[in-house]
Amino acid sequence: MKQAMPVNEQQLGPNLTFYDLHPPATDMLAEVRQSLSARQPHLHPKFFYDQTGSRLFDAITATEEYYPTRTEAALLARHNGEMQQQLGDTAIIAEPGAGSCQKVRQLLECWSPERYMPLEISRDCLLDATRQLSRDFPAVQIRAVCADYCQALSLPGDSRQPGQVVFFPGSTIGNFEPDARRQFLRGLHHLAGPGGALLIGADLQKDSARLHAAYNDAQGLTAAFNLNALHHLNRELDCQFDVDNMRHLAFYNADAARIEMHLECLEDQRLQLGDTHLTLKSGTRIHTENSYKFTVEGFTRELVDAGFTPQGCWTDPDNLFSLHLARH
Ligand code: AVI
Repeated sequence: MKQAMPVNEQQLGPNLTFYDLHPPATDMLAEVRQSLSARQPHLHPKFFYDQTGSRLFDAITATEEYYPTRTEAALLARHNGEMQQQLGDTAIIAEPGAGSCQKVRQLLECWSPERYMPLEISRDCLLDATRQLSRDFPAVQIRAVCADYCQALSLPGDSRQPGQVVFFPGSTIGNFEPDARRQFLRGLHHLAGPGGALLIGADLQKDSARLHAAYNDAQGLTAAFNLNALHHLNRELDCQFDVDNMRHLAFYNADAARIEMHLECLEDQRLQLGDTHLTLKSGTRIHTENSYKFTVEGFTRELVDAGFTPQGCWTDPDNLFSLHLARH
């Protein structure tokens, strides 16, 4: 476990405290140069999420084809009472990668915890979301932590409280590679702490046509989201991607049980990476994301391997998505 960063604490309102763990600035140019020069060129999915990318992702979640978000919301709406019964009183909800803190609203309404602790790397996003949340839920103490949750699962001193429920919705767990996923689930186990629990969403394996449609929506929002990573790099690093000559590809790799997203060069791309050039030949594919799909049994096993005791699992009638509750 990493050493906790120096913490800057600010009281922003009667029920809102902001902890800044100063997420380390990464060397974006070095990282992008290394990943684009690899034998299999790739980019980390984090490059999707500038302001435009976050807006596009929200728009994707509202498309007819992208079922995970609304299916998970329906599961939460339908079963949160049962979950609460299993958990007993929940004093604290912690949410790594909370983004706009939308999904937790339902739990705050139904479970009335004393405290909510979102962790989010984007300071602006966290501030906007928690200012609004603190007004809408005046009885909940909000402790907003600005941190890269992958690196900072060791948090301010009192962050691990008995009875803490860690909430990790959206099947974001599917965007981790298997080794990283194993390690991350162990980190969540540590964060939940003795007496705590994890409530986590996992997208399920299904008919590949359904999966294909979810990542190739008719409006082209997923294509725009994927291509936006290149606009983001052009803006930040002046890479000079000719984005009009790149195309979005998403397909289900059944052997690996994952959707793969790539960007394919339709022409040679001569890129400027700081003071060096890199040419990606026409036909080259840049691998931008994997989204692993699970079985209930397989994911339950992964929770057990990470040290959890499975407590409950809820799926929709079409078996599209699963929500898992597990004890520390
Ligand atoms: C954030 N994550 C769970 C999404 C997924 O489905 O893997 C990201 C995404 N990529 C394309 N569409 C949505």
